[in-house]
Amino acid sequence: MADYVLPDLAYDYGALAPAISGEIMALHHGAHHAAYVAGANRAVEQLRDARERRDVTALAGLQRALAFNLSGHALHSIFWTNLSPDGGDRPDGELGAAIDEHFGSFDALRAELTAATGTVQGSGWGVLAWDPVGDRLVVHQVHDHHANFAVTGTPLLVFDAWEHAFYLQYRNVKADYIEQLWSIVDWADVGRRFDAARSGAPIGLVEDR
Ligand SMILES: [Fe+2]
Repeated sequence: MADYVLPDLAYDYGALAPAISGEIMALHHGAHHAAYVAGANRAVEQLRDARERRDVTALAGLQRALAFNLSGHALHSIFWTNLSPDGGDRPDGELGAAIDEHFGSFDALRAELTAATGTVQGSGWGVLAWDPVGDRLVVHQVHDHHANFAVTGTPLLVFDAWEHAFYLQYRNVKADYIEQLWSIVDWADVGRRFDAARSGAPIGLVEDR
């Protein structure tokens, strides 16, 4: 079984500036995301030890630690590939048509995901996901990394609303940070995730480019 690994980024830490500063990217990827990777690996190791000791009372807490850290690892891995220095504009093709169908318009999706991200209490994410059971696009407001997300869904576009994602640059004005995120969304990446989710094809956390 493989250890979880911090993925490299497809761009330099400073490449998303001015939307996201290089200082934030270095800390966010190199420290925060790295900590979730380490936390997930540590939880797996501690779960293995607890099983060997038959210490079932320790398992629940460790399972929760794994869910938190592994979800944090997955969401950040998607977040980095959702963003690009060449991003922005709006989606076209099948993704664009599906957004029109399920939300009414791109502007309606934008307003809904912006609100989900902007109104997180504490730490969390705004997430656009594909729900294969209802055959529809949905927006979730995820709490922490792993709560309030329907288990049917595949995340397609994720906006990090944790303070570590913006506070060094935007201070308490989270709305400006979210506005800037829209200018660096890599719709080609979101579209590939949409296609894979609908076809049932496996897709790596980090897209090969
Ligand atoms: Fe984050």
